[in-house]
Amino acid sequence: MSTPTRPVLLITGASSGIGAATARHAVQAGWRVVLAARSLERLQDLAGELGGPETAIAVRCDVTEWEDQQRMVAEALEAFSSIDAAFANAGFGGPRGFLKDTTEHWKEMVLTNVYGAALTIRATVPALSESKGHLLLTSSVAGRRVLPGSLYSCTKHAVTAMGEAARQDLHGTGVRVTLIEPGMVDTPFFDQRPTEALADEDIARGVIYALSQPPHVDVNEILIRPIAQQG
Ligand SMILES: NC(=O)c1ccc[n+]([C@@H]2O[C@H](COP(=O)([O-])OP(=O)(O)OC[C@H]3O[C@@H](n4cnc5c(N)ncnc54)[C@H](OP(=O)(O)O)[C@@H]3O)[C@@H](O)[C@H]2O)c1
Repeated sequence: MSTPTRPVLLITGASSGIGAATARHAVQAGWRVVLAARSLERLQDLAGELGGPETAIAVRCDVTEWEDQQRMVAEALEAFSSIDAAFANAGFGGPRGFLKDTTEHWKEMVLTNVYGAALTIRATVPALSESKGHLLLTSSVAGRRVLPGSLYSCTKHAVTAMGEAARQDLHGTGVRVTLIEPGMVDTPFFDQRPTEALADEDIARGVIYALSQPPHVDVNEILIRPIAQQG
């Protein structure tokens, strides 16, 4: 059923894990969603599951490519006319240790986690300013405490800083900014799936909490660990 007033949430990294779970919860909460990632077929399957083009559209976007990000926003506006919230969530990790991993993988990770998130802010801020909307970024508990030898942790500290930098930059526009800081979540982020971790939907509920506050309430940060996680 088409309900033109349903707000619109754009999600990067929507093909899997936290992004896909957030899309499912958002649609249940009355949002329309723009699903972005590189795996178009998975996004299309999810868009179909969520009700098809009146509720969910799939857009192929490599967040490290500015042209992709601009096209993602253009397709969102063409389909739904506004963007009420944008969730810069795409990202991945790698082995700890400054002598581990490959330099190519490091570069891809920094570009995706840091540059990609910044590009999503740049691409969506005009539409969010128009809608007096909401910007959310996925940092991590690893963006709050340093992990030994973890360049991933360094990228997430950059995202944490980016959230606060964006909040101050957008002050006065009516745009709210929320940092989502998950502890260990059982998603394909891990090659070996963790036990005693959170589920992706545990984070999705946190996102919906931030999104569903009254307009004057800006939930700046949500850090969620599983009870079994000490550090
Ligand atoms: N799982 C955890 O314990 C945990 C904890 C703290 C923070 N996080 C953060 O949560 C976010 C989501 O991760 P997840 O746990 O849900 O893992 P996931 O299931 O592996 O999802 C990662 C998502 O990022 C997308 N992605 C990766 N590179 C991309 C690129 N260049 N362009 C566009 N999309 C890209 C992937 O889609 P495609 O491959 O289709 O592009 C996928 O949809 C990440 O930022 C991660 O760092 C995860």
